[in-house]
Amino acid sequence: MSAQRRDDVDAVVLVGGKGTRLRPLTLSAPKPMLPTAGVPFLTHLLSRIKAAGVDHVILGTSYQAEVFSEYFGDGASLGLDLEYVIETEPLGTGGAIGNVAHLLRGSTAMIFNGDVLSGCDLSALLARHERAQADVTLHLTKVSDPRAFGCVPTDPDGRVTGFLEKDPDPVTDQINAGTYVFTREVVESIPVGRPVSVERETFPQLLESGAMLVGYVDSTYWRDLGKPSDFAAGSADLVRGLAPSAVLAGRTGEALVLEGCAIAPDATLTGGTTVGRGCTVGSGAVVIGSVLFDGAVVAAGARITDSIVGTDARIGEGSVLCDVVIGDRARIGRNVELLAGARVWPEVELPDGGVRFSADR
Ligand code: GDD
Ligand code: MG
Repeated sequence: MSAQRRDDVDAVVLVGGKGTRLRPLTLSAPKPMLPTAGVPFLTHLLSRIKAAGVDHVILGTSYQAEVFSEYFGDGASLGLDLEYVIETEPLGTGGAIGNVAHLLRGSTAMIFNGDVLSGCDLSALLARHERAQADVTLHLTKVSDPRAFGCVPTDPDGRVTGFLEKDPDPVTDQINAGTYVFTREVVESIPVGRPVSVERETFPQLLESGAMLVGYVDSTYWRDLGKPSDFAAGSADLVRGLAPSAVLAGRTGEALVLEGCAIAPDATLTGGTTVGRGCTVGSGAVVIGSVLFDGAVVAAGARITDSIVGTDARIGEGSVLCDVVIGDRARIGRNVELLAGARVWPEVELPDGGVRFSADR
């Protein structure tokens, strides 16, 4: 897909969150830099922005800010003109947007939460904004449990009538999908120099003042990768081609095995599993819908489902893991069972057998 170039549009990607729900993986890398389908997650989003014809991208960073610029540099490898803004103290989602106002070049800004995997047609979102002559246009989607998101009711014309962040008793299943179009004036109106939540402060105040907020509702692929089960599922969906990514075009299948791996011929890799560089998977091992970071070792007969295994971690023979996170360089002994939300911190060693751990989330 190559869209018409949009020099009048800047993209702003919010990547300053601490990724708390993905600990311990986010102790060593910020959430948007964790590998999904073989590349840092942010690569998929940046490629979508490029494909929509927008070249100028500003990353609003805070937590582990340098990791982004060390990897993406000036953005030339993606055909982008990439700039970075570092918040010494996190400014919140709204503060981060206001903080980049001085770098905007065009009349319109597309703002992205940096942890969303989506098939939203960005050109159509822009067109909706322009047609409605809106102050803000929000991408909205419908989910089965809206409580963890921003709940956004609209009227029959698609005009936003409320914004209720993380409401325990949501009035609609229609939620903020984390991609917005703002006029430059709205970006410039956000107070600077203090934390601001776009969800709890900016949107409610704009509605209060009578500003024109419209929703763009679609039913394309959508997932927030903020928690481990969604991170593993999102990565698996990318590998299987269920989630769109310009980066992976034509390279999808049941598993993605990166270079330098030693995979036993009778091991089973399926469900969109990614096996990172230099991994070892032993005889009879089964890995389903999971992400193995670089250098991970899965010994013979182990069975790993819907889980994330950190860099250079080792899973012992016959161990069973389901819906868990294993930190970098952790050592899991033989015949260990880890289930339902268990997390093992980096470098922790679990002895052979006898351990059965599950955590509720
Ligand atoms: N620069 C910067 N500074 N970025 C931040 C900050 C900050 O202080 N705080 C959070 N972010 C970034 C995160 O890195 C992430 O990419 C994005 O802002 C959203 O933060 P999350 O912590 O992931 O929020 P959430 O998932 O609970 O809720 C948000 O996203 C949902 C959709 O995925 C809200 O916008 C909800 O309304 C929305 O439904
Ligand atoms: Mg999120």
